[in-house]
Amino acid sequence: MSEAPSNLANFAPRVFSGIQPSGGLTLGNYLGAIKRFVDMQGADYETIYCMVDMHAITVWQDPGALRRNTRELCAGFIAAGIDPEQSILVNQSQVPEHAQLGWIFNCVARMGWMKRMTQFKDKAGKNAEQASLGLFAYPALMAADILVYHATHVPVGEDQKQHLELTRDIAAKFNHDYDVDFFPLTEPVIEGAATRVMSLRDGSKKMSKSDPSDMSRINMTDDADTIAAKIRKARTDPEALPSEAEGLSERPEARNLVNIYAALSDQTVAEVLAEHGGQQFSAFKPALSELAVEKLAPISTEMARLMEEPGEIDAILARGAERARERAEPVLKKTYEIIGMVR
Ligand code: TYM
Repeated sequence: MSEAPSNLANFAPRVFSGIQPSGGLTLGNYLGAIKRFVDMQGADYETIYCMVDMHAITVWQDPGALRRNTRELCAGFIAAGIDPEQSILVNQSQVPEHAQLGWIFNCVARMGWMKRMTQFKDKAGKNAEQASLGLFAYPALMAADILVYHATHVPVGEDQKQHLELTRDIAAKFNHDYDVDFFPLTEPVIEGAATRVMSLRDGSKKMSKSDPSDMSRINMTDDADTIAAKIRKARTDPEALPSEAEGLSERPEARNLVNIYAALSDQTVAEVLAEHGGQQFSAFKPALSELAVEKLAPISTEMARLMEEPGEIDAILARGAERARERAEPVLKKTYEIIGMVR
C-alpha cells in the first residue's frame, strides 16, 4: 500500500468518528472511544460523531433492536458529555452522501487491499462464503464516512487502526489518479491507557459486545451490583500489583485492570501503580469497582432518562443530519465533478 506524505496542512482540522449501533455500549467503547470524543470537543474545530447504522446491517440486525440501539447510542453520547450543539450527532443513514461516496470508493479500493482486512476475517470467520458483500466492502464505506466531511483526525480504539490506514490509501489513490489534492490523509488518534480494553475473562481477547459471555464485559447499562460482581469475578493472577509498569508486561489480566483504572481516573499507569503497587487484587478490585461505579452510574442513569423521550433523541438526530449534509453535499458534488460525472 502507498505511503503518501501528510497533506493535512491544507485542510481545516475536523474530527469525525463513528460507533455501530449493533448492541449495547461496552466499557471498551466508552474508554476507547466516547470518553475521548468528549475530550476532543474543542472550540476551534468541528467534531462530528456518528451512529453508523448502515455499517451495523452488514450483519443481521432485528429492525426494532436497531432502532432502539441507535437511540440508546445517541443517549450514551449525550449522557457521557457530548453536547449536541457543539458537536454534530448524526446517524449515518440520514446522510445519503456517505453511501454515495462509499460507492465511488468501492471503485478506488483494490480487492487485494480489502482481502487483508483482519476485521473481515474475524467477523466472517470460517463461513466467509455466507458473509454479506457489505461486510467485505465495509472499510470503503468507513473511508467515505470520514472523507465525505474532509475530516482530518479520527479518534478510535486500537482495533480500527488498519481501517484508518486503508482510508489514507483510498484518499491517496483518489488524489493520485485524478491528479488533485482533494481528500485529506487522515490522522488516526489512538491515545490513552485504554486503546484496547480486554475481556474480563480472558486477557488475550478484546472486550466486545459480541462476546457470548456477559461476564466478559461491563455494559454501560449495568447497575452498580452487576459492575461490582463482574470486577470481583474478573480473571487475575495470584501476584500483588507491581510498582512499575514493566512489571505488567507478562500479566495481561492485571495490566487490563490497571489500564481501566488509569483511564477511568484520568491518570497514567505509573500514577496508578505508585498508589496501588504492592496491593493484592483483594484490595485493588474493590477500589476499581468503586471507581467504575462512581464514573459509570451517572452515565447509565442519564441514558435511561433520555431514553424516556425518544422524540427528543430523534429531533437531535434530524438536526444533526441537516448540519452534516450542509458539510457533506459540497464535498460529494466536487468529487462527482473531479470524476467527470455530468451534473
Ligand atoms: P465499533 O462500533 O466496533 O467500536 C466503536 C469504537 O469503540 C472502540 N472500541 C474499543 N476501544 C478499546 N477497547 C475495546 N475493547 C474496544 N471495543 C471497541 C473502537 O475502536 C471504535 O473506536 N468500524 C468502526 C465504526 C466506524 C467508524 C467509522 C469509526 C464506521 N465508520 C469512521 C471511525 C470513523 C467500528 O466497527 O467500531
